[in-house]
Amino acid sequence: MQARNAALRRPSEADAVFDTHPEVSLDFRHVREALQDGYQKPFLLVDSSIIRNKARRFKAAMPRVQPHYAVKANPDPRVLRTLIEEGVGFEIASISELDLLLGLGVPAAEIFYSNPMKSRAYLEYAASRGVEWYVLDSVEELRKIASVKPDAKMYVRIDTPNIGSDWPLAGKFGTHAAEIRGIIDEAVTLGADLAGVTFHVGSQCRNPQNWRVGIERAGKVFDDMRRAGLAPRLLNIGGGYPVRHLKPIPSIEIIADVVNEAIAELPHDIRVMAEPGRYLVSDAAYFVCRVVGTATRNGKRWMYWDAGMFGGMIEITEGLRYEILSDRRGPSIPWSIAGPTCDSVDILVHEEMLPEDIQEGDYIYVPNAGAYTTAYASNFNGFPLPDVKMV
Ligand SMILES: Cc1ncc(COP(=O)(O)O)c(C=O)c1O
Repeated sequence: MQARNAALRRPSEADAVFDTHPEVSLDFRHVREALQDGYQKPFLLVDSSIIRNKARRFKAAMPRVQPHYAVKANPDPRVLRTLIEEGVGFEIASISELDLLLGLGVPAAEIFYSNPMKSRAYLEYAASRGVEWYVLDSVEELRKIASVKPDAKMYVRIDTPNIGSDWPLAGKFGTHAAEIRGIIDEAVTLGADLAGVTFHVGSQCRNPQNWRVGIERAGKVFDDMRRAGLAPRLLNIGGGYPVRHLKPIPSIEIIADVVNEAIAELPHDIRVMAEPGRYLVSDAAYFVCRVVGTATRNGKRWMYWDAGMFGGMIEITEGLRYEILSDRRGPSIPWSIAGPTCDSVDILVHEEMLPEDIQEGDYIYVPNAGAYTTAYASNFNGFPLPDVKMV
């Protein structure tokens, strides 16, 4: 049994243009070993030593930037524990993520509540558990936070370009230049501690210039805050740091060149943090699932996996190009790939070139799949959630 390209991935010419540093992936040998114990359902196999190395590489590339892991990328407690041991802080979207972290002993002061829209009940709970920092991107959210926790430290999420990001996040969140003045004025009126600025360049961002624009815009907001009598002291440069799949990516060192140069312009009393999610966990894991069956429909070949968009593979449907490996070595043909549910949205991709001899029961291996896979899964239609196994 041999996975196509599994152990021998060499950078292409396009990669060399972007990458100054070798990217590491989980050794495929571990996947084979895990399968020797049998297969019950789709699983993610995670190597915590790669998570450690990614955390260290991130800090080495941007020494002034403290990483706060976006728990949503992979909330497995073993992943979180590894990051705690590496001295990484955290960013949360909900109070169940907060409870998870508090249960692992993370101090509330190291937890940033970065979801721009929070229910009053969630705010009250977070405040009661000692969370100090809260994001907002509207006057209404500022008032809501201030009414629940008058001494909250707040940071405003601003709009920034998401050009060249595989998973754009602009549009839903991020206040625009025209609205910032109103937010600052309201903070002054309420005596609220509006103390920082954040932005998100979009997930799997392959364009380092988005960070430069975000930091420059943040610098202007800091000026406005100071002029209004506020005391800005936090820049949160968000997530978006990409990992290797099929498209070339800039390495973290190349992104760091842009970020480090841009933050050098900021006063030294501005604390700089980031919220990497994907970057810290993706490369550490293989996703393994199985072909439930194949079919020919209207002359086209289809394969159905036991994990589709509800079982962990949703990012494929939004255009993330994973490498997909199998043990077959036949000539490649275009396949349509779908999940096992009865829902017609559960189609992952069409025209994916894979060996023609793939059959029912074959394993499918997806490298660099540690982020936004198991975290997204639901048991819609009664299919089980994928397992998370550690090497
Ligand atoms: C507020 C916030 N911060 C950080 C992240 C992490 O982004 P990424 O996994 O692209 O690094 C996200 C992802 O959606 C987010 O919403």
